[in-house]
This record gives sequence, structure tokens and C-alpha cells, in this order.
Amino acid sequence: MKLIKRTFIINGVPRPLVFSEDEKLSVVLRRYGLTGLKIGCGVGQCGACTVILNGQPVRSCVKKMSSVKAMDNIETIEGLGTANNLHPLQQAWITYGGVQCGFCTPGFIMSAKALLDVNPSPTRQEVRDWFSKNNNICRCTGYVPLVDAVMAAAAVMRGEKTMADITFQESPDKSIYGSKYPRPYALGKVLGVTDYGDDIGLKMPPETLHLAAVWPTLTHAEIKKIDFSEAEAMSGVVKVLTAKDVPVNNIGPATGHKRSFAQMYPQPVLAETKVTRLGDPIAVVVARTDEEARAAAAKVKVELEPIPEYETYLEAAVPDAVSVHPGVPNVFLEQPLIKGEEVEDIIENSAYSVSGSFYSSREPHLSLEPWAIQAYYDEDGKLAVQFKSQFLYFAQGQIAKMLDLPADQVRIIESATGASFGYGMTAEAPALAALACFVLKQPVTMTMTWAETIRFTGKRASSFANGRLACDKDGHITAMEYDIGLDHGSHSRSAGGLEAKVCRFIGYPYKIDNMRGLVRAAFSNNAFCTAYRGFGSPQAYTTSEALVDMLAEKAGIDPFEFRYINAARPGDLSPSNRPYTPCKIVEMLDKLRPFYNEALEWKKQPAPAGKKRGVGVSCGGYNVGATNDKSEVAIELNPDGTVTCNNTWEAQGQGADIGTLCITAEALKPLGLRPEQIRLDLNDTAFCPNSGPAGGSRSHYVTGNAIIDAANKLMAAMKKEDGSWRTYDEMVAEGLPTRFKGVYSTVGMYEDISPNDGSGEGRVDQNFSSYVFCVEVDEKTGETEIVSVRCVADVGVVGNLLALEGQAYSGLAHSIGFALSEEYSDHEKKYATLKGCGILKCNQLPDDVKFVYQETPREHGPFGSGGASECFQSCAHMGVINAINDAVGVRIYDLPATPEKVKAAMEAKAAGKDLTPEPYYLGDPLYEELERIKKNPIV
Ligand code: FES
Ligand code: FES
Repeated sequence: MKLIKRTFIINGVPRPLVFSEDEKLSVVLRRYGLTGLKIGCGVGQCGACTVILNGQPVRSCVKKMSSVKAMDNIETIEGLGTANNLHPLQQAWITYGGVQCGFCTPGFIMSAKALLDVNPSPTRQEVRDWFSKNNNICRCTGYVPLVDAVMAAAAVMRGEKTMADITFQESPDKSIYGSKYPRPYALGKVLGVTDYGDDIGLKMPPETLHLAAVWPTLTHAEIKKIDFSEAEAMSGVVKVLTAKDVPVNNIGPATGHKRSFAQMYPQPVLAETKVTRLGDPIAVVVARTDEEARAAAAKVKVELEPIPEYETYLEAAVPDAVSVHPGVPNVFLEQPLIKGEEVEDIIENSAYSVSGSFYSSREPHLSLEPWAIQAYYDEDGKLAVQFKSQFLYFAQGQIAKMLDLPADQVRIIESATGASFGYGMTAEAPALAALACFVLKQPVTMTMTWAETIRFTGKRASSFANGRLACDKDGHITAMEYDIGLDHGSHSRSAGGLEAKVCRFIGYPYKIDNMRGLVRAAFSNNAFCTAYRGFGSPQAYTTSEALVDMLAEKAGIDPFEFRYINAARPGDLSPSNRPYTPCKIVEMLDKLRPFYNEALEWKKQPAPAGKKRGVGVSCGGYNVGATNDKSEVAIELNPDGTVTCNNTWEAQGQGADIGTLCITAEALKPLGLRPEQIRLDLNDTAFCPNSGPAGGSRSHYVTGNAIIDAANKLMAAMKKEDGSWRTYDEMVAEGLPTRFKGVYSTVGMYEDISPNDGSGEGRVDQNFSSYVFCVEVDEKTGETEIVSVRCVADVGVVGNLLALEGQAYSGLAHSIGFALSEEYSDHEKKYATLKGCGILKCNQLPDDVKFVYQETPREHGPFGSGGASECFQSCAHMGVINAINDAVGVRIYDLPATPEKVKAAMEAKAAGKDLTPEPYYLGDPLYEELERIKKNPIV
């Protein structure tokens, strides 16, 4: 191999680099230690790898070294500022909420610097155009805070503001609870020094081995033969692992639901007899380098015999379909909802009724960071696995079970995480690295490409629903009926929990006394269903918020007014037949009403040529935690008077760091500690108690209460009789412990969702959100532009405004993507890229966004707070769909509402065609199934 030596000016310093001609700039810079730039998509679509080359932002992952000339000027994030001397852009990113997961941050900051170098006074639109043109994608922030940050930094650079002006200032009482105190982890991210999974992989010791997976080429097939003889003989290859090397070849928990036929069905770590999707790994090659592992993986010969493949629920549910998992029917689970009177007659006899069939997509999470995992034996001889875990103790249990080890022999550490939004809850990916390390007793690292990651990870279950809704002449809803099929893809993971959620949220937050519904789950040959923010609720609102709008229209009542009439009042019961707590939904809508009225005024103004204006409303919300929830944390007093918090509040970008800090600071307020005296040492099972998952919007609530418990125990031990506090030395001298475990448990406090009628609480708390969308639809192209969004939400007392807004913007951005563009299928190649999956750029999301928080204190929440995150990714997408209908008079029944679909619907309507879809066939008729369930109660 011939190598090139060439000198470049890197961050102002001449540096000779050695590389091969084929290498990309990103790879070479990272090899030289400049790991601030990240490799996300690897194909020029995300901008995470942006550096400045001769004054221009370039995506270094597609920049060939052969085109970079000697003495070219390269600027990377490492040359911008230091911890004690931040560049204004870095400070602004911290202060204005630009950092969530932070994986995109160095690329965005470098891109923004390149803009401000040539245009010191950009308008907001110019900033948005720049980020869009340069493919700078952020999946976490919805872009608004990033544009805020650029505008603030530009003002400092022009001398109009000082750095102090764009730095957080404490309130006079020094309380940080409820403030915009910035995230402690943001500093490392804006400096580019935070190591994510692949950065750690690059920095592992030299004996570390590399892994590459062997993937199937068919979605449904029997494995006839695996021949890895050629691969194993290749240079650098240490071993090829197959199913025979896995002690217990199952990484899927049993389906918990009592009406499931798939209780014992295993999810193999490595496929042995058949594959059920493109992302079922068949073998793992272990080699000295990544290149060697990948080259050998390409030489593993797998003989597959095709079986009929089922792309969706609908194909798999037909009576003569082959079972995806032999012995288990494809429709493998049912959750009924039976509330109030029988509904058929009520619907028939009501003044108005509507019906419809609705589809929601297999939405991909679209995190920028691909899977990157390390596994090694630690100093105590335990198998340590590092990755973007969203539930450390669950991963510990699953990996230990797979390796037939006691759980305490496995240590899970969360690496800095380039977001997961749910898919990090499970352990399929770390299982591969853990297995290789366990078999070979050597450290291993594995980085998947983005294309491998999207193929491998689960997705949101797509949904197919038939529904009916009726009301009396005054618009009061009289009854609801639905039948919904959820496509779980190839594995039953998450089944049961998902069906219960859908049951809870179809019809929320309204008063609907009479309901009949069935939620069914089916296997198909596609990506399996996994956790995703809002879990179950986007599917539910796709049906109910469409029906509500359709019924309002039929009854001749304004859609906002119709929702106001039917919004639950105190004493009304939720779809799962329990009180809404708290029940301030009408008050929330009162706060939304002025925004709605403004939107109606806006609609009256002339629209741009060729466009139609529409206003859409949606209402919804989510729950907090699970029925039997529990969290444990520890707080320790240090010799220097500081305290250290240990918990497994997983830091996925949502704000585990600031959540832990602000609750601990508030709980320990009597001690008068400064925020910097509270140290965070989180997310390592070696010393952090089990705080549960960062899921279900539960962490702030459940772990927050556990932190308060630990803090109270510490202060009780420190308190002297005269009211002053013992020092660490005094505690030790008196033989008092300095570390305290805090616990919060709701075990036994709430009822789970009944498998017989769908009743029950199924959560520890609830939240609510309501939206008004203003859109413009292009009459020629069918393209929808979101002009503005207003949201009023009730998530309890705000703990940290910056983190809350981050979740609000993020949930909104994902919801708009869900409404307009996002989809995934194993059956089309285009979904192997971010662009193909429909990711939205800065210019495709609204800049005119406002959130208002109704802070109804939660009775049991920490300092009155609730849980927030998923509330913002529940119903928002239906505000968009309802606004499109308002603009051009067509209802899009199958999401996403792409320009092509909207255009086709407008043309069909113009041609006088009926747009109503045929009802879906989901299995045996709804009422036969409900009768059968009634006769077979689960006791
Ligand atoms: Fe280079 Fe995505 S654009 S990693
Ligand atoms: Fe932008 Fe996570 S903060 S991708």
C-alpha cells in the first residue's frame, strides 16, 4: 500500500499527516485524535462531520483526501475555544438549549462559524437556509434553539452583546429549580471532547478486536447452510461466531401480556434456523481491525431458502398466511377495551356519526449516532459492556441470561449517547459485543454503519385502524368504536405494553362514556417494534384525533369548540375508566383559545399565490411511569463538603444531568450547596443503584422522588441538635454513614390495564397537551409548510425550563416528521439512509413556535413536577393532518402526508371521487372477538 504525506494547516498549526489516497478527511482527522467531528450517516446527509476547509463548511465523511491540497486550511471544533475561554457560539449553544444529545453539536457549531465568518449579521431565515443547504441535521432540538444560539453569538461577535449577556445568570435566591440553568454535560459537547461510542472505540487498547455482522439478504427464509471457512482463513480474522457459540440464544423477554400466544417465543441473538427480517444477524466476524472484520463478513456464505414474506400486518393476518414463528399465529395478541354500554345501537341512533380507516407509519427513530459498543473484562473480572443504554439494569439482566452468568458478573456502562429516543431500551446490539468478549476473553469494539443501524434497530409499530365515533345534536360524544392492528414486525418485543397504551389513549383526554375497542398485534417480516417516545400514543391519536375532527365537521361545530365541549371535566373517566388526574383540561384549552382565535384571523388574510391556508387542532397527552414503578439512587457526602449523586437516570440527551442536578440542589437546599458542589457520577451498574429506565417520561418523577428520599436521609444524619450541620469529618468521627440510598416505589399503588376490559390506571401520573397548527398547502405540488405552532401543555411544575423546552421542540419535530415524511420498511432500499427515511431539515420545520406550560402541581411528584417528554410526541401530528384538511378539504388517512399523497387526494377530490378508504381486514370481526374474550376472562 502506498501512503501520502502532506502538510495541512489544522487549527492554525502546520501538521504533516500520513494517509492513503482513498481515505476520507473525516477518518484521517479522527485517526489523528480530532474526534470532535462525528461520523453519523457517513454519506453526506447529516453534517455531524462538518469541518471548515479553506473557509467553507465541508462534510468530511465524503471529502476524499485526494482532493485536499497541501497547506489547505482546516478548522475543527478543537481549535475554537477552551473550557475557560469559550467561543460565543459554544457559549450560546449551552445557554440557549442547543445541546441535547450533542452528537450534531460540533458539526453545527463549525457550520455556523463558517456562516458568521462571511455574514456577521444573518437573518434567522438566512441561518435556516444555511443549515439546510449544508445538510446540518439535528434530530433532538427541532432547530429553533440552534437558530436562537447563532443569533445570540452573532450579536456578541458584532460587539452588540457581551458574553455575560448570553451566559446563564442565577436568580437572587440562587435557586435553580424551575430556571434555565444549563446542562452540566453541555460543556464537553460544545468543546467536542465528549467521547461517544465510536470515539471510545478508537481509543481502546491495541489488543482490542473488531466485530462485523453478517446480515441476511432476504426478509423471510430458512437458513440451510452457513459456510464461514473462507472468512475464517482471512487475514486478521480471529473467529466467526454463530448461534452455536451463544450459551442461551435469546435476547427477548417473554411477552408479558396475558392474552398473548407468543409468551415463550425467543428472539435469537444470532439467527440459527431462519431469518424473519433483514436485521436478524446470522454471524459475527471477530478480527484485528474493522476493515478485516468487514472484508471477512462479506465472504461468509449463507444459503437461504425463501419463505413467503409479509411486509405488513395486513399481509400477515390473512387466514392462510404462513406463521412467521412456527407454532405461533401471526396475530398473536389482543387487548380489549370495554367501557359503558354496548355502542352499536348508540352509534346508529346518534344525531351524527363518522367512520374511517387510518394508517400510521413504521416511524424510525433517526438518531444520528450509529450503534457503537465496547466490551471488556474490568479490574474486578466482570464483563463490562459500554453502549447507549436507556435501561442499564435491564441490559445487565438480558446479557447475563444470554451468557448464563449471574447478573452481578455483568457491568453495564452508558457511553455518551447520540440519542436513541427509545431503541436503547433493549440489548440486541450490546449482546453481540458481550458475546464476542465472553467467548474470546479479549476486549472488543463494534461500530455499525448508519445503514446497518437502521436495519438492525426496532421501529415504532405501524398501525391499521377502523374506527367510528358518534355525538348528539349538541356535539356531545355518545360512543366510540375501534379495531386496530399493530404491526410488531419480526419479534414480539414490547408487545402487551404497547397494546395497553393504545387502549389508554384512543379517546383521551375526552369524556366518552361508551366505548368498545380491540387492539391486536401481529408479526410481519419487517423491523420489530420497539420503544419510541410517545410509545403507543401517536398510533392512538392517529385514529381518535381524526375521528374527532371529522365528527365536528359533520355536526357543523368548530373543531376547537367540539373539543372544548367534550374535554373531560373533574369526575369524568378516561378511556381506561379511571379519573383524569389532575383534570385541568378545560383550563388548558382556555389558554389555547386565544392562539386559536389568532390562527383563524391569520387564515383570513390572503395566502401566498398558489397556496391554501389551514388551521388544525389536536389534543392528547401521555402518562408517566408504569403501574409498579421503582427507582433507587445514592447520594454521598464527600470529605470536601461536596456531594456525589449516583443513579442510572440514563443520559440520552433529554437532560438526565440537569434533572439530577436541579432536583438534588432543591432537595439539599438547606445545606446551601452551590450547583458545582453537586457532582454527578451516573450510569454505571458497578456503583449506581437501579433507577429504572429513561422511558415512559418517568425519570424526573420517580427518580426525582428517590433523590429527595436520599437527600432527606443525608440531611437527617447531618443535622445536629442545634440545627447546624455535621461536617464529613464529624460524621466519620461519630461513626455515621456518609452514603445514603434513596428509594421511591409505587408498587401496589395503581392498577394495571386489565386484559379483560382495558380498565385500570397503568401509570403513576398523567400529562396533557394541546396544539394549534397553521399550515399552507401548495395546490400544485401538495407540499405542506408548517407556518406556526402553538402548544399549551400541563406537565406539572417545571423543573428545568431549558430541558423541558428541549423535549417540547424535539417531540414536536418528530411529530411533524411523523405527519409529513417519515416511514421505514425492510422491503425498500431507500430506507437505508436518513434522507430516504424522510428526515426533515431546518427549513422544513417551523421557526414560529410557542409553548405555554400550565403548571398544575402533581400531588406525588417531586416539588409538584410531573413527567414531560412524551406528552409532546403524542397528538401533535394530528394537528398537522387536521390543518391540511382545513386548508384543501382532503383528509389524509394514511400517514405520512407526503406531497404526492396530498396532491393525489386533491386531484381525486376534484374529479369527484370518494376519498374514504375501505375498512381494513384485521382478523375475525370485532364483535365476535370481543364476545370470545368476554367468555374467556383471564383471572
Ligand atoms: Fe458526514 Fe453525516 S454528513 S457523517
Ligand atoms: Fe442534535 Fe442530538 S442534539 S442530534
